[in-house]
Amino acid sequence: MDFAKKTHYAMTPQDETKPVINARGLYMQYPSGEGVIDVLRHVDITMAPGEFAAIMGASGSGKSTLMHILGCLERPCAGSYHLAGNHVGVLDDAALSRLRATRIGFVFQACNLIPQCTILENTELPFMYQPDPVSPRQVKARAIEALEKVGLGHRLSHKPGRLSGGELQRAAIARALVIDPLLVLADEPTGNLDVAATNNILDLFGTLNSLGVTLLVVTHDAKVAERADRVLYLENGRLQ
Ligand SMILES: Nc1ncnc2c1ncn2[C@@H]1O[C@H](COP(=O)(O)OP(=O)(O)OP(=O)(O)O)[C@@H](O)[C@H]1O
Ligand SMILES: [Mg+2]
Repeated sequence: MDFAKKTHYAMTPQDETKPVINARGLYMQYPSGEGVIDVLRHVDITMAPGEFAAIMGASGSGKSTLMHILGCLERPCAGSYHLAGNHVGVLDDAALSRLRATRIGFVFQACNLIPQCTILENTELPFMYQPDPVSPRQVKARAIEALEKVGLGHRLSHKPGRLSGGELQRAAIARALVIDPLLVLADEPTGNLDVAATNNILDLFGTLNSLGVTLLVVTHDAKVAERADRVLYLENGRLQ
């Protein structure tokens, strides 16, 4: 894996003085039967640029809900959230999409690759949502570069069905990285992987982190959490 060449694709320079994540009093409820359930009661979280944190907690404790809010995929019912200095709560949906598309890379447990598309095409997809046009030649070059970084340079034309679980997750990481995000959010990225593949992904995260990418990873696996600078526990709608 060649990480020596760190490119910066973000549209505006990262402000190193501002936290990447600064969320206060996040509150989220969902309708449940006749009533509602309070999933997040009062979540505060701050992440400095370049930090690697893990979130653990029981199934149903709201970890994915929190990741969706921090990833600007959902809006909290109450609370404030600043992402790299941007006050997310005041942004309209278009501005939110722009922020998401340029700043955040997502990696989910089910890697969410499109089965009909090749690994290369899947990795090119995030460029469809970039507000500023990138030439097809550049898109391809950057997708190949991202795939080479995760050790999949030899699998460009393969469809997801022909890859192993670990390779699929590495492809998902390449897709998250291709826009050179400020923040990578990973929700149980190693949930389906064996020990060797998990270690491979962890090494990849470690390398990314050493290059300054801010990483927030939800995991049930103590081995994954061990690699983080900080482990947070979500319990009763709060992070401790
Ligand atoms: N869109 C939704 N509508 C209604 N309820 C929801 C919705 N999303 C999540 N929930 C509920 O919120 C609670 C928290 O769900 P969430 O997926 O965030 O948990 P989790 O900690 O990620 O669990 P797991 O470890 O199993 O992935 C659950 O009770 C879930 O049923
Ligand atoms: Mg979850």
